[in-house]
Amino acid sequence: MTDNKNTKNASSIWGGRFDGGVSSVMERINASIDFDRELYRQDIAGSKAHAAMLVKTGIISQDDGDAIAQGLDQIADEISQGQFEFSAALEDIHMNIETRLAELTGDAAKRLHTARSRNDQVATDLRLWVRDAIDQIDADIKALQASLVDQAETHAATVMPGYTHLQTAQPVTVGHHLLAYVEMLGRDRSRFADARTRLNESPLGAAALAGTSFPIDRDMTAKTLGFSHAMRNSMDAVSDRDFAVEFLFNASLTAIHLSRLAEELVLWSSDRFGFITLSDEFSTGSSIMPQKRNPDAAELVRAKPGRITGSLIALMTILKGLPMTYGKDLQEDKEPVFDAAEHVMIALAATTGMMRDLTFQPDAMREALMHGFATATDLADWMVRVLNLPFRQAHHATGAIVALAEKKSCRLDELTLADMQSVLPEITNDVFDVLTVDHSVASRTSLGGTAPQLVEKAVKAARKQFDL
Ligand code: ARG
Repeated sequence: MTDNKNTKNASSIWGGRFDGGVSSVMERINASIDFDRELYRQDIAGSKAHAAMLVKTGIISQDDGDAIAQGLDQIADEISQGQFEFSAALEDIHMNIETRLAELTGDAAKRLHTARSRNDQVATDLRLWVRDAIDQIDADIKALQASLVDQAETHAATVMPGYTHLQTAQPVTVGHHLLAYVEMLGRDRSRFADARTRLNESPLGAAALAGTSFPIDRDMTAKTLGFSHAMRNSMDAVSDRDFAVEFLFNASLTAIHLSRLAEELVLWSSDRFGFITLSDEFSTGSSIMPQKRNPDAAELVRAKPGRITGSLIALMTILKGLPMTYGKDLQEDKEPVFDAAEHVMIALAATTGMMRDLTFQPDAMREALMHGFATATDLADWMVRVLNLPFRQAHHATGAIVALAEKKSCRLDELTLADMQSVLPEITNDVFDVLTVDHSVASRTSLGGTAPQLVEKAVKAARKQFDL
């Protein structure tokens, strides 16, 4: 066998049985280094853990283990300082690092791959990467929750129209509206936390697929890398990407939640609503229309589920019908995961920024409540409570009063008592007490309701529950 340690291409690592080099098209379709370099930290951590275990179990010498660890540290520095020369001919991050390690440490490097395969190596790297991404995303979601809770506290008693079907439904408080998102985001965090628990087991030592004949200690590497245990089945260990799918689903649902909030910011900042003013930092101007203040960041957040759910579908499609165990198909798992993580993080950061900086316009929101008969339900409830009418009958009578107000182009509280009595003679003057917006929100004190006093409590409870 020729010693081809100086020819820097992947076949110097796996090419013992090959005569010729690979075609340039083969190199292009096969190489993943342009994106999987993203895994370098995890790859180096995994290799260090593996090498330490090989030493501990007597599979390699202490000297080789030390040389490997030092070499890997140096490579980590080279990569983080942008001094590492990545090579597509070396296919992927694993072989780029291993080849460089051989330059630095010679034969020690060549022992590192004992009892390991790139199959368990890459599965380990990706789990570690996704775990780190989850921790970052959790912190990012938490920051958004904190910004929402702060605004909710400021606007616990600020009224705005609550909508169903985007039609004025009932008055609500801004704080209550914002806390709805805090709940959504809380569920997102708990889904990521669940996924983290499930993914946190170690594939390392599964080797290619069947395990190894060397006396390795998988519990040791699992522990070193912060996994809760070693995966039980070596075939499952190298072929499973469920954790990546779960991550992508969670990222998708978070992005979908963000897009709902973003759409509200777009609506609220439009001049038809005028409920908020976005800060200059999160608005852009138009190159032709000098008056414009565009909510570009919110629109981009609104669009993010396009690519993020696209990534979810991509990975599910890659996995569908894949026979056990590893197939190179699985190399295509990384870009969707990296892309989704990057974009959900930027969407979270932008949403947090917008939310912190925006100004609510209480007058505009109160004005909006002057249209759409937002307190019609309060009128019907009054008839039930005071006149003991069955709700359906009260609903009907209120409908007739709304129609009357519509005909007279006035609000419910602008009708005269005589107008009201023309529909329902039993109505008395104190009905007018319940027709104000502030009375309406203050009265909604049932558990989970919009009353300002409940919002104040909910703000405190959210801070406690979500550790904000
Ligand atoms: N670059 C590969 C991937 O991302 C690494 C694993 C390659 N394994 C193999 N047997 N060719 O999946």
